[in-house]
This record gives sequence, C-alpha cells and structure tokens, in this order.
Amino acid sequence: MAQGSLPLQAHPRTVCTQVHRPGGPPTLPDSQLPEVPMSEAVPARLPVTLTVNGAAHTLTVDPRVTLLDALRETLHLTGTKKGCDHGQCGACTVLLDGQRVLSCLTLAVMHDGQAVTTVEGLGTPEQLHPLQDAFIRHDGYQCGYCTPGQLCSSVGTLDEIARGVPSHVTAHLDDVTFSAEELRERLSGNICRCAAYPNIIAAVMDVHAGEGA
Ligand code: FES
Ligand code: FES
Repeated sequence: MAQGSLPLQAHPRTVCTQVHRPGGPPTLPDSQLPEVPMSEAVPARLPVTLTVNGAAHTLTVDPRVTLLDALRETLHLTGTKKGCDHGQCGACTVLLDGQRVLSCLTLAVMHDGQAVTTVEGLGTPEQLHPLQDAFIRHDGYQCGYCTPGQLCSSVGTLDEIARGVPSHVTAHLDDVTFSAEELRERLSGNICRCAAYPNIIAAVMDVHAGEGA
C-alpha cells in the first residue's frame, strides 16, 4: 500500500441505499416506497360541465386534461389551435366568461360551470363577426394558423379597453384610451409567424372605429 493512502473498505454506516437514475435525483428503491391506499388515489376521470359557444356540455375527463385538449380532442372544436402548448404563442386563446385565456395553460376541470367562447362561436360563414370580416378586408392573415387566437384575443382586448383595464403602456391607470400602441401591447402575446401584424392592427382599429360593423 502506497504511503498516505487508505484501504478501500466501505464503512457500514456510509453505504448508500438510494437509487440514482440517469438524469434524475436519487430516489428510494421501489421496495421502500410508501404504499398509497387506492381510496386516496386521484380519480382517473372527473365530470365537468362547460357552456361552449352557448351549448352546455358535461364531459368526463382526466383531471390533467387542459382546456385546450378538452375543446379539441373531446368536443372536436379544432378551430382553437395548439401552437406551443406552453403559453408562449397565443394560438390557443379562447374567451372564458368573456375574458381571454390561454387554454393550454389551464385545466378543464378548473372551469366547471363557466362559459367558453371559441372562434367557432364568434360568427358563422354566413354571418361573420365584425372582426372576422375586418381580418378578411385587411388581409390580416396568411396561413391562418394563429388567426383563431388573434380573433379571440382581439375580442377580449376591445372589451378590456372598453372596461378601462390598464396595460403596461397605459400612461395613466385611470385613463385607458384606445390606441394602436395599446393594441400592439395587448396583442403582443399572439405570435404570427407570417408577420401579418400591421394588417391585424389595422383590422382591429377598423372595427373599433365602427367601420367594420
Ligand atoms: S398553444 Fe397555448 S400559448 Fe401556445
Ligand atoms: S397568419 Fe400564419 S401564423 Fe399568423
């Protein structure tokens, strides 16, 4: 044995009983994990009643299902788009009791009894919503993937400004006035990869001015 080195001998009290899995923190071996009684387990599916575009629906969903997936996969309302699924693109924007929300960031079971409006509920091909009409006239989209979210977000934005809800660029909190700057700020969470932004702003300003009604 070289001078100064110690014999390789594990001390009983230093033996590690934890399991190190690649890429994760150490955990206990399965045999040492506490057992959770079935009576305490989260139910696999829960009922939730939503009023979607004016029609009541009672769904039975996995409590981990997002509102976006409940709309698209269970109710087959595929107008609402999944872009990032992480709250970063705005494609999934819907109105929840009139206020815009990112449906990919909220669970369906959290909204029992609430009213959801998707792009399918804004207008019909025969009777477009004024914003849908203005988007067409102002060429406010190209591929159209972001458009349902842009439309729902624009409806919510116009309502927010009308109710005097301030934004980051509002100079005086008690004086919320409509402007292109307010629109750009409030719609900044709705990403358009086709860069139709100037035409979208023009369309929303048109509707606000009453020209698109
Ligand atoms: S899909 Fe929800 S923000 Fe992108
Ligand atoms: S129109 Fe294509 S992403 Fe907006």
